[in-house]
Amino acid sequence: MKLNLKQSLFSLLAFTFLLTTSQLVAQTYAKNGMVVSANKIASQTGVDILKQGGNAIDAAIATAFSLAVVHPTAGNIGGGGFMVFMNSEGETTTIDFREKAPLAASETMFLDEDGKIKDNSNHKGLLSTGVPGTVAGLYFAHQKYGKLPWKDLVQPAVDLAENGFAFNWNLYGAAMDFSKVAEDYPFMATYFNNEKGEITQPDEVWKQSALANTLKQIRDQGRDGFYKGEVAQKIEDYMKANGGIITTEDLAEYDAIERKPIKGTYKGYDIYGMPPPSSGGVALIEMMNIMELVDWENIEFNSTEYVHVVAEAMRRAFADRAEFLGDPDFNLDMPLDRLISKAHAKNRFENLSMERASLSDSSKFGQIYDGKNTTHFSVIDKEGNAISMTYTLENGYGVKMGSKDLGFIFNNEMGDFNPVPGITNSGWQIGTKPNLVAPQKRMLSSMAPTIVAKDGKPYLIIGSPGGRTIINTVFQTTLNVLEFDMRIDKAIEAMKIHHQWSPDVLSFEKHLMSPDTRKALEAMGHTLRATGGLGALMGITIDTETGIITGASDSSRPEGAAIGY
Ligand code: GLY
Repeated sequence: MKLNLKQSLFSLLAFTFLLTTSQLVAQTYAKNGMVVSANKIASQTGVDILKQGGNAIDAAIATAFSLAVVHPTAGNIGGGGFMVFMNSEGETTTIDFREKAPLAASETMFLDEDGKIKDNSNHKGLLSTGVPGTVAGLYFAHQKYGKLPWKDLVQPAVDLAENGFAFNWNLYGAAMDFSKVAEDYPFMATYFNNEKGEITQPDEVWKQSALANTLKQIRDQGRDGFYKGEVAQKIEDYMKANGGIITTEDLAEYDAIERKPIKGTYKGYDIYGMPPPSSGGVALIEMMNIMELVDWENIEFNSTEYVHVVAEAMRRAFADRAEFLGDPDFNLDMPLDRLISKAHAKNRFENLSMERASLSDSSKFGQIYDGKNTTHFSVIDKEGNAISMTYTLENGYGVKMGSKDLGFIFNNEMGDFNPVPGITNSGWQIGTKPNLVAPQKRMLSSMAPTIVAKDGKPYLIIGSPGGRTIINTVFQTTLNVLEFDMRIDKAIEAMKIHHQWSPDVLSFEKHLMSPDTRKALEAMGHTLRATGGLGALMGITIDTETGIITGASDSSRPEGAAIGY
């Protein structure tokens, strides 16, 4: 935890630096295509692929592999995620490459003899690692929808790992942090070293030769380069030697799945999001449906009433999330149609008082407030095909373990399962059935890659990291664009709040809410908590009449960039 605090402090310093040097994010315009990601090298990789004639899927694959090299806190081949794809005709689909529990996993695998979570084992150590899905997901997307050869899309990442790139201040900050906890995280303690075995310095070229070799196998053999053969065997060997349970059988059996998107509407716009095993799409659409019932004529943006009504929508959607959602392959009776219906929003809105905060009955359900270490990117190509993709290792640098031979970091995504069956408390813990661990089950996610269409064409492509806060920052940014007509950079930077039903706390961005609003909200019964920053949104809007593309990357990611051509 000490480490996370330091990482946040480092991010805060970087943010302050940006503010004081007046480089605050601005929008970027383009006509032919754009990639917005948390790292400018990765965004450029994607744009280069577009310029070579690749489509949005190709650019997304190349961007994702590049992020695995240049943004290893969340960019990955050892984790998983989700892709929402809308083609230029407005046809939409999603690809689910969420990690799965290994075959040897069980409902009680994280518990000690007293039924308590043992040594934080759902987040720490290799028991917390799910079977990675990223390579399978990207390969699936390429086989079905890609245009350029697979090898051309992986090669830029091979080059970045083999020839290196300029080490940035964020990586340097992480390297310094890990050097102080070397005993706890031996893999990370040398991960950022240069060829002389010293911590790489800012602007020095950082090479990752083991990762380059793993990427070459993926480049040459596609999916099998990761899930079969040498790499798969090395993963099993590393797991066995270090307390993990993932086997070559788990890897061989992993599959990415194409799923129908969750669809909702807001005042004439069509919203497409990720269905379970992510909760992102369902919760976003439930909240947007509630927002449609609000009398915005009489509510000022960022006022007490605004914060209250937005927080109350969040409270309700997160309560439903806790009760009903999990892996659809294991929960065949989830009431998805009901949850995203206008009638359900009406019911939820009817008991929403504009005078008082509701109560979260945390004796029933609760949610984890977790890390901010996922990454999102948005892509649009010349034909108007759009990709919204979010992927993750769960915590920053995942489980902070990996094989030196393979050069990549494993996820700790098993922490997204409900850890203790039947136990839900007023803190963060939830024990409902839909999201209990089972072999080959996917853990519930909050990732919310989203595409909004206007007149049947992509209009807004948006997503964010941030654990449970993802749903809420994507929700508010979408509302900012659709209801308040904000330009994408303004919508991203505007004040964000977070409420996840339980714990019953309303978090707000410290520097962006006035003392008067805070006092008024407290008087209404809200428990407030100041937080440094919420979300790291990477967004694109497309003017459906002129075709002009506008993109912006959140200033909380100083290495991020919207690059177009
Ligand atoms: N690990 C973050 C999420 O999937 O919600």
